[in-house]
Amino acid sequence: MSALVVVGSQWGDEGKGKITDYLAQESDVVVRSQGGNNAGHTITFGGEKFALRSIPSGIFNPKIKNVMANGMVINPKQMLEELHGLEERGIKDYQLFVSNRAHIVLPYHELLDGAYEQFKGDKKIGTTKRGIGPAYADKANRIGIRIADLIDPEAFKNALKATLTIKNMELKMLGMDPLDFDTIYKEYVEYGKKIKPFVCDTSLLLEEEIEKGSKILFEGAQGVMLCLDHGTYPYVTSSSPTGASVPLNSGIAPRYINNVLGICKAYTTRVGEGPFPTEIDGELATYIRERGHEYGTVTKRPRRVGWLDCVALNYARRVSGINYLSLMLFDVLSGLKEIKICYEYKLDGKTIKTMPATLEELQRVEPQYITMPGWDEDITKVTSFDELPVNAQNYIRKIEELTKSEVVIFSVGPDRLQTIRLKDFFK
Ligand code: GDP
Ligand code: IMO
Ligand code: MG
Repeated sequence: MSALVVVGSQWGDEGKGKITDYLAQESDVVVRSQGGNNAGHTITFGGEKFALRSIPSGIFNPKIKNVMANGMVINPKQMLEELHGLEERGIKDYQLFVSNRAHIVLPYHELLDGAYEQFKGDKKIGTTKRGIGPAYADKANRIGIRIADLIDPEAFKNALKATLTIKNMELKMLGMDPLDFDTIYKEYVEYGKKIKPFVCDTSLLLEEEIEKGSKILFEGAQGVMLCLDHGTYPYVTSSSPTGASVPLNSGIAPRYINNVLGICKAYTTRVGEGPFPTEIDGELATYIRERGHEYGTVTKRPRRVGWLDCVALNYARRVSGINYLSLMLFDVLSGLKEIKICYEYKLDGKTIKTMPATLEELQRVEPQYITMPGWDEDITKVTSFDELPVNAQNYIRKIEELTKSEVVIFSVGPDRLQTIRLKDFFK
């Protein structure tokens, strides 16, 4: 058995969907283990583009078992719409398994997400407003509702009654109208019926696959800097997108996780609020944003843009156990005279090589840069490392040196075929 974890090593949108789809060609199982439809994973092949939200990126290959594991928060309505959308585009022959222990996102979660953001004013997180934070909060508060409840009308009735009483008090307190039990119940019982055929104990399924010697690919959502524990708190999501979270969130033993592939843009982006030490603006940011089509997959917000931050990347490597890197959107940097890489920060005149814990300090750090010469050539058709302009080769080597990680893939365009593998690491 071989397991590989794909994690976003920055603030999300690094190209995890693209690489998961690419590696899925040689996998047996693809697992999403955290997050929900706050994710937006873009996959491009055969002239078609798909944006997946909660469905795993192995869905296009009928041989692959796609698992939505216990650590996810699943919006039943959105999930069914997503599946329907895929079916309408001809993706009908797929294998999907949904954990009976995954929690569900209900309408009050979305309302509360919006309300908390509104009341936070200029302290808002800039969430995707998909109810992810409130759903994970209910899980921790032990008032969450799980897939196993949803598919059992009696259990769902009891769970929804109990929780909705509390949630309606919360909604009223925040100045919103309470939600009607019958309306939600009737609608969601129907979703439960449609989801039921996919539901099983996915931990058990994974154990069987492990025993068979299957190749299992874990598809992270978000990125390490958005991790609830290790990210730029409170400007984070409400789950942990690290390699370490995978065993817990999918019900497998930690010993199976040996390899963690960090997906990393050749620069950095962030959507939503929060500190971003290497952020740039002006013409340079516009150049990168337009070339990289840096607009959110889920919310269409323009993404903030900055230079590659190896302090953040090294931190992500450490807390997430990244041992390989996949360098994405490399083609976007063509045409820049100079490219900067942050290798350390200065804080109050002192050198620091790791992420400070407080927002105050993170906002004050001064990134220190190495300036590398750029290249003008279009690299979107490159098929090997040797075909890259020498300055692009040097850029990759510098990243490896600064992060102590091997770049095993680089990507020069959104298409599945624009992926160059430097090492066969997924054995
Ligand atoms: P994810 O959330 O990590 O799966 O990433 P997203 O799909 O949200 O954002 C990545 C964006 O970059 C998508 O629009 C991809 O199609 C695109 N993309 C991925 N790899 C490359 C690449 O190498 N070059 C270019 N130009 N675009 C890429
Ligand atoms: P993928 O998987 C980029 C960000 C939001 C916000 C913060 C909290 O496509 O990389 P949430 O709705 O999760 O409570 O929002 O996290 N965020 C993402 N940013 N990519 C994502 O997913 C994200 N999922 C959440 O913008 O700043
Ligand atoms: Mg995304």
